Amino acid sequence: MKKVGIIGVGEYLPHKVLTNADLEKLVDTSNEWIITRTGIKERRIASKDEATSDLAIKAAKEALACAKIKPEDIDLIIVATITPDMPFPSVASIVQNALGVKHAACFDISAACAGFVYALSIAHQFIARGAYRHALIVGAEKLSAITDWKDRNTCVLFGDGAGACVLGEVKSGGIISTHLGCDGSNLELLNLPAGGSRRPASKETVGEGLHYIKMQGNELFKIAVRTMTHAAETVLKQAGLTYRDVDLIIPHQANSRIIFAVAKRLGLTEDKIYLNIEKYGNMSSASTVTALVEAVKEGRVKKGDTVLLDCFGAGLVWGASIIKW
Ligand code: COA
Repeated sequence: MKKVGIIGVGEYLPHKVLTNADLEKLVDTSNEWIITRTGIKERRIASKDEATSDLAIKAAKEALACAKIKPEDIDLIIVATITPDMPFPSVASIVQNALGVKHAACFDISAACAGFVYALSIAHQFIARGAYRHALIVGAEKLSAITDWKDRNTCVLFGDGAGACVLGEVKSGGIISTHLGCDGSNLELLNLPAGGSRRPASKETVGEGLHYIKMQGNELFKIAVRTMTHAAETVLKQAGLTYRDVDLIIPHQANSRIIFAVAKRLGLTEDKIYLNIEKYGNMSSASTVTALVEAVKEGRVKKGDTVLLDCFGAGLVWGASIIKW
């Protein structure tokens, strides 16, 4: 089995910033409530003519330039998203065409906020077994398109963005261990009820607002803390490591209180947590990858560091991964 690591990173965040003060004008909320309950100060919103693939393509271009490889050297593209441009074709196919990556295998995966770790794990297997040399994996979302801007329970939480990584063979380190899982018994806690085959789009579904994110945040909060702690402990055990070996945890950025609670349970001090939720809110599958990309750019991840990715989301899915940088 080949050692596989991240050899290039990139991100794209739309220019428009939506602050908590802006949200105070839309719904009955306050800057203070949003900051103390979530840690979010602002989020990015894509323009009307920007789709998820547009964000993904920009992040992917940066990752390819960072990896210093040509589009034709990419054999596989996986896009993790819950907001594809359309049900089909895949966002990955659109990215492939825009980048001029000829013949690479392309597909999207739907694993909500754990999507990036799922994509990382899939691409890892292909390269480790020698089926492909390089993979481009992208987490990209335009959550503003499925957000109910009249629902204060959800509209303060989400944002748009994309992050991308190029995976390839490395001489040392790389992806050490990954743990994925799902418990499908709590589907109703976080979903988008209509627009699929069960309830196709109709005048009624649109009228009832069933094309927007529905979430029972309070219940999810408790499950998120328990599940992310369990996922991190499992992947550490699998790797034969303990929390003392972790230099930085890069968790899914849904709520800073969830993140602090998980870190405390794991025994990780605040200096070992990477947070960018205050700038972007929750971007589902784009959150963890964007946080990883920014941690690398800021020098928070250094050669030889052990990084723990830890995610949780609708499904309810989870994924954790340990990468030696
Ligand atoms: N502004 C002001 N008040 C708000 C509000 C807002 N934007 N949103 C909700 N409230 C109110 C509620 O109506 C409720 O009022 P009530 O007590 O009069 O009924 C009160 O604040 C507390 O609501 P609650 O839902 O208990 O708040 P919370 O502390 O659980 O925080 C979340 C809400 C959504 C921030 C939090 O539960 C959360 O982050 N959940 C997990 C999200 C998650 O993990 N998602 C899955 C991964 S993507």
